[in-house]
Amino acid sequence: MRMASAACIHIFVSTFMFLAWFMAKGDDSYVRDACSVTRYQDLCVHTLASFSSTAKRSPSKWARAGVSVTIGEVKSVAQNLTELKEFQLLRGRRNRAALSDCIECFRDAVDELHKSLGVLRNLSKSTFDIQMGDLNTWISAALTNEDTCLDGFEGHKGKHVKSLQNWVLNASYITSNALALVNKLATTGLGSPTDP
Ligand SMILES: *[C@@H]1O[C@H](CO)[C@@H](O)[C@H](O)[C@H]1NC(C)=O
Ligand SMILES: *[C@@H]1O[C@H](CO)[C@@H](O)[C@H](O)[C@H]1NC(C)=O
Ligand SMILES: *[C@@H]1O[C@H](CO)[C@@H](O)[C@H](O)[C@H]1NC(C)=O
Repeated sequence: MRMASAACIHIFVSTFMFLAWFMAKGDDSYVRDACSVTRYQDLCVHTLASFSSTAKRSPSKWARAGVSVTIGEVKSVAQNLTELKEFQLLRGRRNRAALSDCIECFRDAVDELHKSLGVLRNLSKSTFDIQMGDLNTWISAALTNEDTCLDGFEGHKGKHVKSLQNWVLNASYITSNALALVNKLATTGLGSPTDP
C-alpha cells in the first residue's frame, strides 16, 4: 500500500515535471521563432522571453515588446551616462564633450522610441503603411543616435569609457533587434491569422 502510494506520487511528480518542461519549452519556441528575424538572437531571446505567453505568434505584439524593452534599456543607459557626468567620472575635455553629446543623443533616442511605441499601440489597417514608414524612420534614427554616441568616443581610453562603450553597444543591439521585429510586422501586415 505504501509502495503504491509512493509510486502514485512518483507518477504524479513526473507528470507535473513533464508538463512544466513542456510548457516552458512551448513558450521558448515562441520567443525563438520571433527572434529568428533578429541579428542578435541570443540577446533577443534573453530580453524578450517573458513575453512568450502573451505574444505567442503575433508580429504586432512582438514588435511592441521589442520597442518597450528597448525603451527600458535606452533609459537606463541614459541614467548611467548622466551619473558619469554628475560624478565627473570621465577625465579630460574631449571625453566630457563626447559625454555631453552622447547624453543628448540618448535623450533624442528615448523620444523617438516613445513615439514608436505610441504608433504600435494605435495600429490601424487604413494607416498601416504610413505607420510602418514612421516606425522605420524613428527606430533607425534612435539607432543612428546610439552610433553617433559611440563615434564620439572612438579611440578614447579609460575604464569608464570602456564601460560606456559596452552599455551603448548593448543598447544598440537591442534597438537593432526591435527594428527587425518591426520590419517583420511590416512584411506580415495586420490581421494575419496569428495577429488578431
Ligand atoms: C490613432 O489612429 C487613428 C486613426 O487610425 C487616429 O485618428 C488617431 O489620431 C490615432 N491616435 C493617436 C493617439 O495617435
Ligand atoms: C549601468 O551601470 C551599472 C553599474 O555600473 C551596470 O551594472 C549596468 O549594466 C548599467 N546599465 C546598463 C543598462 O547598461
Ligand atoms: C545587455 O543588456 C541585457 C538586457 O538588459 C543584459 O542582460 C546584459 O547583461 C547586457 N550586456 C552587457 C554586456 O551589458
